[in-house]
Amino acid sequence: MPILIFLFLLLSCVQALSCNKLDHDSLLSFYKHISSSPPAIPLNWSSTNCCKWEGVTCNPESRVTHLSLPGKHLSGTIDPFLGNLTFLSYLNLSDNQFYGTLPSTLLHTLNHLESLDLSSNRFNGSIESPFFPSLISFNVSNNSFTGSLPSSICITSRFVKMLDFSTNKFSGNVSKGIGRCSKLEIFRAGFNSLSGWLPYDLYTVKTLREISLPNNQFSGPVNNSISLLSNLSVIDIHQNELTGEVPKDIGLLSNLKQLILHTNSLNGSVPPSLMNCTSLKTLLLRNNLLGGEIASLDFSGLQKLEAIDFGNNSIVGTIPVSLCLCRSLIAVRIAFNQLTGEIPACMAGIKSLSHLSLSDNFLSNVVEALRILMRCDNLSVLFLSRCYKDEPVPNDDHLLHLNGFQNLQILTLGGCHLRGEVPSWIGKLKKLKVLNLSYNKITGTIPKWLGSMPNLLVLNITQNHLTGELPREIGDLKALASDDTDSDLSNLALPFLFDTLQYNRLFNLPRGIKVGNNSLSGNIPAELGNLRLLRELDLNDNDFNGSIPRELSHLVNLEKLDMSGNHLSGEIPESLKKLHFLSFFSVKNNDLEGEIPKGGQFDTFTNTSFEGNPKLCGSVLQRNCPSTTPGGQGEILPPVPTAEESETPWYTIPFGLGYSVGFFVVSISLLFRSSRKWFN
Ligand SMILES: *[C@@H]1O[C@H](CO)[C@@H](O)[C@H](O)[C@H]1NC(C)=O
Ligand SMILES: *[C@@H]1O[C@H](CO)[C@@H](O)[C@H](O)[C@H]1NC(C)=O
Ligand SMILES: *[C@@H]1O[C@H](CO)[C@@H](O)[C@H](O)[C@H]1NC(C)=O
Ligand SMILES: *[C@@H]1O[C@H](CO)[C@@H](O)[C@H](O)[C@H]1NC(C)=O
Ligand SMILES: *[C@@H]1O[C@H](CO)[C@@H](O)[C@H](O)[C@H]1NC(C)=O
Ligand SMILES: *[C@@H]1O[C@H](CO)[C@@H](O)[C@H](O)[C@H]1NC(C)=O
Ligand SMILES: *[C@@H]1O[C@H](CO)[C@@H](O)[C@H](O)[C@H]1NC(C)=O
Ligand SMILES: *[C@@H]1O[C@H](CO)[C@@H](O)[C@H](O)[C@H]1NC(C)=O
Ligand SMILES: *[C@@H]1O[C@H](CO)[C@@H](O)[C@H](O)[C@H]1NC(C)=O
Ligand SMILES: *[C@@H]1O[C@H](CO)[C@@H](O)[C@H](O)[C@H]1NC(C)=O
Ligand SMILES: *[C@@H]1O[C@H](CO)[C@@H](O)[C@H](O)[C@H]1NC(C)=O
Ligand SMILES: *[C@@H]1O[C@H](CO)[C@@H](O)[C@H](O)[C@H]1NC(C)=O
Repeated sequence: MPILIFLFLLLSCVQALSCNKLDHDSLLSFYKHISSSPPAIPLNWSSTNCCKWEGVTCNPESRVTHLSLPGKHLSGTIDPFLGNLTFLSYLNLSDNQFYGTLPSTLLHTLNHLESLDLSSNRFNGSIESPFFPSLISFNVSNNSFTGSLPSSICITSRFVKMLDFSTNKFSGNVSKGIGRCSKLEIFRAGFNSLSGWLPYDLYTVKTLREISLPNNQFSGPVNNSISLLSNLSVIDIHQNELTGEVPKDIGLLSNLKQLILHTNSLNGSVPPSLMNCTSLKTLLLRNNLLGGEIASLDFSGLQKLEAIDFGNNSIVGTIPVSLCLCRSLIAVRIAFNQLTGEIPACMAGIKSLSHLSLSDNFLSNVVEALRILMRCDNLSVLFLSRCYKDEPVPNDDHLLHLNGFQNLQILTLGGCHLRGEVPSWIGKLKKLKVLNLSYNKITGTIPKWLGSMPNLLVLNITQNHLTGELPREIGDLKALASDDTDSDLSNLALPFLFDTLQYNRLFNLPRGIKVGNNSLSGNIPAELGNLRLLRELDLNDNDFNGSIPRELSHLVNLEKLDMSGNHLSGEIPESLKKLHFLSFFSVKNNDLEGEIPKGGQFDTFTNTSFEGNPKLCGSVLQRNCPSTTPGGQGEILPPVPTAEESETPWYTIPFGLGYSVGFFVVSISLLFRSSRKWFN
């Protein structure tokens, strides 16, 4: 009890003390340099006792020790007088809009500073040899600092545990110095323009837990002595210019959870010792020059491995059975390599597997592959394009009583020259959103049941040998007709490792029906006009006849409409002008007639969209239309200059202007489209 009373008295005593005059004045001076955005009173710093001000903490001697003002929408420069807060140990101005350079006096007088967080502001200029003898944590990430990395920081600040320089404009070689930070645990300097070899003394800092230097221009090898930094749990040096091999003793790093070295120029083979890194969760080595036998790797010890990406290398051999023993695997990508043989049967047992990409390899037996993979209950994305050659389409006989693939959302089997008809087991995949069977040798008709697939958003059967009519039932595709289904690709959380060209293409994959380059005949079904969300419609290079259905003008989201290379007749419906997002339109090589519509996006299409239709007319084809109103015998078009003719004739100017306006409209609509894509 007496102790409590004492504490209470002490506390009220402390409260009563007003803050140190020097501290008060330097805070006020700091205050005068800041404003807030949106404009308002930046901080409630009106009372006399600065120890009670928002974000300010004092020690019992009424000296300011903490200044913490993160995320307060503050703007302005840092006043050098802040350096008079000589007892300051914690300064956090993260996530504001401070700008300008850091005053050098500030860096030199804060002798007690332990933690400095200036991240996510707009500071610029270079950081000159800071002098913080007590520093432990230093975060200047996400600013615009330039110059070389101040590795001399370690000469005076020997106790530093954390340095974060990421996302700035630091450049040049990293000079020696970092090695003196003998307590350093986290070193981040990614997303800068740093170059040269990794500083050698980095390999001597035994306390390191994280080395994160992605998106720079570091070159040279990763020295094998990195394997001696036994506490390392994260090595992320992706997207640099590293050469040489993956350190051969990396297996000594038993705490390593993330090894991210993708997009470099590493060569040699994946070292077998890597399979001793039993803590590994993420292993990304794509886009390198790695070779070697994948079967020589024994994955069985990697029980925590969740994601592996060996894509875009030159790895050979068959998929090792030991991979099936990784019980935590979620995503596997070995696309763009030289794998041969068949998918091992044991893969059916990887129940956690949700993403698999083996595109662009030399595998065989697609039938067996699907029989195996359909039993991976969680599989939602399966890329198998261009990895089989000239095999039969896996059909119902092969996949009898199919009840697998019930979570599959994306299936690509393009470019495999598969023979046979569109198999009806596909119709049972109720969650399928993307089906790509393009560039095969598929025969027969497009099945009517495709139209009742509840989630299909992208159907790509371009370049096959399909015949018959395009079934009107395709116009029933629910996910393309109305927004109310779960009909987006953006919510299909693809893991980061698919963050590649392939992934980007996929993410941008517009809702589309692509049946170009087949032998389809009959009329274009008017029911396609129901597919309001459609962004691409490829009907090109088939044998469609009849007229262009006016209903296509209901496809208000359409960006691409290709009907070229058919036998279409009649006029181009005037109503197609309503398609405000249309940036690609072609009816080339048909038998259309009459006047090309004017206005809307039609003003942006060039003659290539219309050529090969002798009976079409309009200014873009430089072919006059016979006037229908008696008297007005068609307007006389000015001659369009050939390239050889004159400099810039006056009449090309309005034409050029029209073109720019058209281009502007297209750009704006594309902009609008892409932002919608990201936010819906
Ligand atoms: C400003 O802070 C004082 C205490 O320091 C408080 O009494 C006052 O209500 C605050 N004013 C506003 C507008 O928040
Ligand atoms: C600074 O403040 C932000 C927001 O509260 C916080 O996330 C961050 O961890 C702080 N920085 C330090 C070094 O404590
Ligand atoms: C406070 O800081 C300024 C700027 O660094 C300096 O000129 C001034 O001498 C300091 N005042 C005191 C009392 O230390
Ligand atoms: C970087 O800073 C900007 C503001 O300057 C902020 O909008 C953004 O969220 C920050 N990024 C990160 C990764 O913190
Ligand atoms: C820092 O940015 C300001 C504008 O905010 C600019 O005037 C100044 O020249 C920049 N300084 C350096 C060193 O880049
Ligand atoms: C540095 O600050 C940024 C932005 O506030 C934060 O995302 C990052 O995690 C911090 N770095 C460390 C090592 O804590
Ligand atoms: C940077 O380092 C590379 C290799 O480590 C060296 O060749 C180059 O001369 C260095 N450049 C400077 C400016 O020190
Ligand atoms: C490695 O980490 C452990 C546990 O955090 C710690 O006790 C040990 O001192 C660290 N080793 C080094 C060399 O820093
Ligand atoms: C790696 O470091 C060792 C010293 O431990 C050195 O002898 C060797 O040359 C370095 N290797 C490379 C490739 O830089
Ligand atoms: C790997 O690249 C280095 C140059 O960066 C070269 O000296 C070495 O021979 C290459 N090794 C293999 C196995 O290709
Ligand atoms: C993996 O670790 C075991 C046991 O520590 C060791 O015997 C073996 O040589 C290591 N393998 C490789 C390839 O380093
Ligand atoms: C779909 O078809 C188009 C041809 O229209 C082709 O270029 C594309 O690569 C195919 N694949 C995907 C995934 O869109």
